[in-house]
Amino acid sequence: MAFSGTRSLSLFRTNKAVVQHAASRSSSWWSGVEMGPPDAILGVTEAFKRDTNPKKMNLGVGAYRDDSGKPFVLPSVRKAEELIVSQKLDKEYAPISGLADYCRASIDLALGEGNPWVADGLNATVQGISGTGALRIGTAFLSKFFPGPKVAHLPAPTWGNHIPLFKHVNMDVQQYRYYDPKTCGYDFAGAMEDISNIPEGSLIVLHACAHNPTGVDPKKEQWDEMSALIKKKNLLPFFDMAYQGFASGSVDQDAYAVRKFLQDGHRILLSQSFSKNMGLYGERAGVFSVVCQDQEEAARVMSQLKILIRPLYSNPPIHGARIVKTILNDKDLRAEWMVDVKGMADRIISMRSKLKSNLEKEGSTKDWSHIVDQIGMFCFTGMTPPQVEKLTKEYSVYLTKDGRISVAGVCSGNVEYLAHAMHQVTK
Ligand SMILES: Cc1ncc(COP(=O)(O)O)c(C=O)c1O
Repeated sequence: MAFSGTRSLSLFRTNKAVVQHAASRSSSWWSGVEMGPPDAILGVTEAFKRDTNPKKMNLGVGAYRDDSGKPFVLPSVRKAEELIVSQKLDKEYAPISGLADYCRASIDLALGEGNPWVADGLNATVQGISGTGALRIGTAFLSKFFPGPKVAHLPAPTWGNHIPLFKHVNMDVQQYRYYDPKTCGYDFAGAMEDISNIPEGSLIVLHACAHNPTGVDPKKEQWDEMSALIKKKNLLPFFDMAYQGFASGSVDQDAYAVRKFLQDGHRILLSQSFSKNMGLYGERAGVFSVVCQDQEEAARVMSQLKILIRPLYSNPPIHGARIVKTILNDKDLRAEWMVDVKGMADRIISMRSKLKSNLEKEGSTKDWSHIVDQIGMFCFTGMTPPQVEKLTKEYSVYLTKDGRISVAGVCSGNVEYLAHAMHQVTK
């Protein structure tokens, strides 16, 4: 509809008055909002994009790349998607707690087919917006219902997002020793000592496998001892399992700690993500579970999880969950997925040994055995911030200041260059 000349003129005058009024305010609504620092990892990607060196490498971001350095969609995922599309499914809302058969298949993957905890109905499991969203449901639940101190005990260091995830719900964070810079390995004695000093009845966060950022995992016997100590101290373990299958190539092996703790009688919290092991980064498929004392408790917990989720985002996205449940519930696709996961894990493991052997070929006399001893997507190289800076400035290799590299970003075509650059800055 066209406005008459007089009307549009008066509208213009009104708008102008509004603008003048806003300008005359001594401050705007948001004048008190301070500029925040850029995200550490996304900042690395931005700097990488601006670099024009054809040899540049981005080892900051935690996303798998194939051997030609390209993003990788798993063949099993492609097949599941084709199946889903051919079924012409509707796009109705999922329940608040997510797709039930997705949740069931996911928790079974973590705890093992036919496990007694799911069989006895002890789990309250909901879909989350990937691992981060699952953890966020967990922190919301803990801040409201955890009867112990509102403090999360996290490993030092831990995934950068863990701390804000707890701070967002007004919980405090303390850290127990985990990484030993002297050995670039696990500080088992330090961790045990710090855990033994955590007040009884507290919350402890554990990375189930492929610890991010260090790539350092406890050995099985160490997990066993940790489980016994954590039981003795009556701590509540919250497992973050973002890499099941991605560490060793076996989903069962990578679930060792979670299953062992349950067998030892712990009641746990668990966050799962399919970002890495199914390459569903942008689909946001995750799961949050509370393993309870009995069915009645599980029902009460479930009711409260739904109450927490409703005002957060009402209900989760369906496409990623459909992909996951299609794969996990189809015998052939599941077998194919296992091969895909193993392929990714093996490529990373082989890049670790190539990086180490190329460093030796370069003439490095440093002990680089931690590169192959560490596991999963990341390697804590032990490089210092000035060495990292030099690596970026002189060789266009981008990584976080703590010396962490994503081994998933290394491939046959650039591993020699990386070894050369690392040797030059560390010799
Ligand atoms: C330890 C850990 N937890 C959780 C996540 C969650 O990732 P997403 O939200 O993409 O599933 C990540 C991803 O890097 C991680 O490393």
